[in-house]
Amino acid sequence: MCYFFNLKAGLHGFFQKESRRRRVIQADCEMGEKEEEYFEEMPTETLARLYVRQGFPEKGLSIYRKLRLMDPANRELEKTLEDLERQLTGGTGQGGGKTDERALKTLENWLSAIQDKKGRLKMKESEQNRVLVIHGPNLNMLGKREKDIYGTATLDQINAELVAAGEEMGLSVETFQSNHEGDIVDRIQAALEGCRGIIINPAAYTHTSIAIRDALLLLDIPVIEVHLSNIYKREPFRHKSMTSAVVTAQIAGLGKQGYLVALRAIAELIK
Ligand code: DQA
Repeated sequence: MCYFFNLKAGLHGFFQKESRRRRVIQADCEMGEKEEEYFEEMPTETLARLYVRQGFPEKGLSIYRKLRLMDPANRELEKTLEDLERQLTGGTGQGGGKTDERALKTLENWLSAIQDKKGRLKMKESEQNRVLVIHGPNLNMLGKREKDIYGTATLDQINAELVAAGEEMGLSVETFQSNHEGDIVDRIQAALEGCRGIIINPAAYTHTSIAIRDALLLLDIPVIEVHLSNIYKREPFRHKSMTSAVVTAQIAGLGKQGYLVALRAIAELIK
């Protein structure tokens, strides 16, 4: 029992120190995977000492060995390692190979509980950062349609790239395509419910739709208008955008990259 509380107190201090340290070192690091790597791969003297103190010298030893590989010139580390190796082979010191399976299990459970919790926090964070991408008429035909102007990527491919890039940025990307003006208006109105940003390529409606323009005026979030082609280099009727004056920014002529640039911009704007 006493042993367990010792372990608990030791771990509590350790996690407090380590989390402070990690906040400094990995201030702009994403949670989740990177931290899993951290736990599994980042050997520290604190962790090694903790294992030894709590009666898991073999685990401590293996961490000290990794540390020595990383810093072979460190004399102090070398000495600690030699002492520990001597203790273990000589059967003296901190309990040798005597391992309390229950306490070790507790340690492992705590690590996995912390990782779970972080995973959940990350998910919540991205759910809160919903970004909607709206594609207007005929964009469902990308990949088939005027490839010299719009490129060869299909809409599904573009959407998949956006969803993946969004995950990297902590954004949950939803995509929507419609050939119908009213449906696009409905979707913009629905974005009033918790959406943090919109990327919209109104396609041909860019040049005609007062309804889409009016719907966008309802929103108080970053809205970026994207066009695959540079509409200003094309036919005069494409030079006029009904929506450009009511959006945060317009990107035209970067092909599918334009959407990714817009997503990055939204991630920055809503930080
Ligand atoms: C477009 C340009 C529009 O003029 C055209 O009607 C489209 C696509 C673009 O992405 O370049 O459908 O919005």
